[in-house]
Amino acid sequence: APNTFIRTPGSPLTVIAHRGASSAAPENTLIAQDVARRGGANWIETDVQPSKDGVPFILHDSTVDRTTNGTGAIRTLTSTQLKALDAGSWFAPYYAGVRLPTLAEQLADLRTRGGNMFLEIKSGHSKAEVSQIVSVIRQQSMTNRVLVQSFDVDALRYARELAPELPLGLIRSTLDADPVAIATELGLTAYNPSNAALLTRPAVVADLHRAGVAMMVWTVDAAGSWQQLEQLGVDGIVTNRPAELAGWNAAF
Ligand code: G3P
Ligand code: CA
Repeated sequence: APNTFIRTPGSPLTVIAHRGASSAAPENTLIAQDVARRGGANWIETDVQPSKDGVPFILHDSTVDRTTNGTGAIRTLTSTQLKALDAGSWFAPYYAGVRLPTLAEQLADLRTRGGNMFLEIKSGHSKAEVSQIVSVIRQQSMTNRVLVQSFDVDALRYARELAPELPLGLIRSTLDADPVAIATELGLTAYNPSNAALLTRPAVVADLHRAGVAMMVWTVDAAGSWQQLEQLGVDGIVTNRPAELAGWNAAF
């Protein structure tokens, strides 16, 4: 089947909201996801990690310290403890009382309201923990609206085994010597380098496209860079400013 993530030149970029609309609302929360969706992002980038009792929660850091009023590693806190935390006040007083979402809640919201999830499995998940994530995606009937991505090659191998139906993306902060080789080996739908990594060797966009692999570049907030990436032929951009990128993109 053709890779529908690959963009035809001259058509709009895929807009991927980094942790939701994270410049306008507290990152990785329901409100950040909703603001991104309303602002025109078709994909919401989200980070997932397990609680102590094995529930997949949405959180970027390995601890709750920066983005909640609590402290400690997420893996040492139960879902009840995590649900008691305030995940909004750190961002602005207006958001007091915003809760850390579970993966199930975030997916249920997208299923009812519309939108797709770029789901990053943080490094260090066991196969059983990846299996939990896959179960949630299936329970929410969202397998056709989720792309699973990770820096962690093992997590991608587990996902491939457990859920061959899910599209996969590999995140990289430096380019592999042969991105097409690793993409082929892992069965990737997308190879997702940082902007800086891509600029060291922009010809990899065409190499990957010839191999049927898409490229989504992260995390890019400057309109000048959007323009440059569009001209380099990338398929999508992960940004903290999804509404601005969607507006810029609509001019196609
Ligand atoms: O989508 C890639 C990007 O989210 C990776 O960086 O640290 O924001 O998860 P980070
Ligand atoms: Ca991420």
